[in-house]
Amino acid sequence: MLPPGDDWSLVDVGESDTTVYRRGEVFAKCCGPSGVAELAAERDRVEWLAGTGIPGARVVDWLESSSDGACLLTSAVAGVPGGALPPSSYERAMRGFGVVLRELHALTDCPFERPLASVIDVAADVVRRDAVNPDFLTDEWRLLKPSELLDQVVAESPYVESVLEPVVCHGDACLPNVFFDPQTLEVTGLIDLGRLGISDRYTDLALAAIQLHDEWSADPAPFFEAYGLSEPDSRRLEFFRLLDPLTWG
Ligand SMILES: Nc1ncnc2c1ncn2[C@@H]1O[C@H](COP(=O)(O)OP(=O)(O)OP(=O)(O)O)[C@@H](O)[C@H]1O
Ligand SMILES: [Mg+2]
Repeated sequence: MLPPGDDWSLVDVGESDTTVYRRGEVFAKCCGPSGVAELAAERDRVEWLAGTGIPGARVVDWLESSSDGACLLTSAVAGVPGGALPPSSYERAMRGFGVVLRELHALTDCPFERPLASVIDVAADVVRRDAVNPDFLTDEWRLLKPSELLDQVVAESPYVESVLEPVVCHGDACLPNVFFDPQTLEVTGLIDLGRLGISDRYTDLALAAIQLHDEWSADPAPFFEAYGLSEPDSRRLEFFRLLDPLTWG
């Protein structure tokens, strides 16, 4: 579906068959008929987060048609995405990122769940369809078959279940989805909330930490310090790092 009216400029064609447009202070995330349920789920999460005090966008409008699909219109989040910050900002931005995840993870009464078993089911489906994107894998992982990577995840999951710490997670806590005030380096908003829900806190910590390492070549220590974790569990960092790339496709 296209957003209503003229003057929209194309921003991004996303991983999950959605297209994002901008017009002034409004973003439109649009999908075809097969994507409506997923986009409606994102709309509900944007609405929920807006009532919590954690910064994010507001839902401006929702348009749906049975033949064309849907469009989610949201308010533009101020600031710049994490991926666009200069290196001189990294240290303070890591702290801002740690603080906002600590606050998000402290929220209660979230109606959305993302149980580990369901995420592993998604990964199993992506692997079965041979749809794993090799660009998301490390050189080391690319030496193995996706089914072998999935076997590793399944083998490690009893450990993760045994220490599970369910909190409200963003679910795709990568730098382009976190906006910062370029002066204060506090977080101005979280976007792309399709996977927000209750899951183990390391869902977010693993993705955030690997992004800081890969994109910023940064030691994530200030991030973990601001989050309030002195000794991160490396087994869970590894686990969620490997699980995530198997869930897209
Ligand atoms: N409300 C918003 N405020 C500011 N920027 C936004 C907003 N919504 C979307 N964007 C911009 O559009 C880009 C794509 O949006 P979003 O991440 O929601 O889409 P996506 O389809 O999930 O994309 P991807 O798969 O690349 O993550 C974002 O990275 C961001 O730059
Ligand atoms: Mg995104």
